[in-house]
Amino acid sequence: MSASTLVTGIGELVTGDGSGEAGLGVRHDDAALVLEEREGVPTVAWVGPAAAAPPADARVDVEGRAVVPGFVDSHSHLVFDGDRSGEFAARMTGTPYDGGGIATTMDATRAASDARLRDLVVGRVAEMRAQGTTTVEIKSGYGLDVEQEVRAVRLAAEVTDEVTFLGAHVVPPSMRDDREAYLDLVTGEMLTACAPYARWVDVFCEPHSPHAFTEEESRRVLLAGREAGLELRVHGNQLGHGPGVQLAVELGAASVDHCTYLCDADVEALAGASATTVATLLPGVEFSTRSPYPDAGTLLDAGVSIALATDCNPGTCATSSMPFVIALAVREMGLSPAQALAAATVGGAKALRRTDVGTLTVGSRADLTVIDAPSYTHLAYRPGVPLARALNLSSG
Ligand code: NIG
Ligand code: FE
Repeated sequence: MSASTLVTGIGELVTGDGSGEAGLGVRHDDAALVLEEREGVPTVAWVGPAAAAPPADARVDVEGRAVVPGFVDSHSHLVFDGDRSGEFAARMTGTPYDGGGIATTMDATRAASDARLRDLVVGRVAEMRAQGTTTVEIKSGYGLDVEQEVRAVRLAAEVTDEVTFLGAHVVPPSMRDDREAYLDLVTGEMLTACAPYARWVDVFCEPHSPHAFTEEESRRVLLAGREAGLELRVHGNQLGHGPGVQLAVELGAASVDHCTYLCDADVEALAGASATTVATLLPGVEFSTRSPYPDAGTLLDAGVSIALATDCNPGTCATSSMPFVIALAVREMGLSPAQALAAATVGGAKALRRTDVGTLTVGSRADLTVIDAPSYTHLAYRPGVPLARALNLSSG
């Protein structure tokens, strides 16, 4: 990036400054941005009408397109090898999802060389960037032994700061008769080895899957992770009503993800005055598992903070596309286009407890996504059309 870059020709600028519908802070005043490197980080240094813009070293003209904050995909499982499209096809004709296929991916992932697994992860991050995602959280969880989980968090840490240790994804088949021993490993040696590469610990808290973890087991995993210096995230309420949401709120997790099945008490807990837990909705999963979509409008009305993410993984949702997720959330979850974009940007940032991404205000990271359309509304209006791309500042 040049020392400073002026971005002009913005037909519609979404700043996310908290004003207007869904706090999106939309500007149609021929707004421009000045971006500059601050302590090695490309940063938004100025926002205002182009006519008043200060001089800059370089200029990028986006020719009337909309510019939005880069999408913050706060939930993904990109470290895997193998293909489970057959499982998807079976689901479409009625076979339910129960988490059992995770073992299939574990086998394929363990068999992959470091170089191959790295190429797969790097390729998936590039695929996301080409669709407008500029921040991505990546979980381990397909290694399920010490060496393989360390490899997963290490490879994830090469491409993102938002690495999540998910050794408690499922109990691996070889240890199904001794869950206690696996829990000892996940909360002991495996955690100690993975924590240096990770910011977060996560658990698949799901009494409806024989492979995942109960409330008590999940609490144990999360508290051990916190003890090791990690912050908390939870997979909860995916396959049916359950304890995941309440546990996440009780422990002050940053996010509880899926929230497919919520009862009134779950919504109340998430909306409580002292609640700091974001409900992260993953409509690509409902799409790909033929599950009911939760009503996100009801959550917003109750005062719950929401985020949208892909959950990109080989089992329940193989899309890497935040625009697709936005379109689904608008069509199927009761969100307006503005609410969906807010959940995919500033909502994702909140789910990651970040204030430097998800907005384009002075001091934000210069993560710009250009929409090849006059308005962000086209993300849901023209689903499936490749309109969004992250702006590459080095080449304009
Ligand atoms: O978020 N639910 C748990 N984990 C993933 C799916 C993993 C898989 O089936 O491979 C999820 O949906
Ligand atoms: Fe997930």
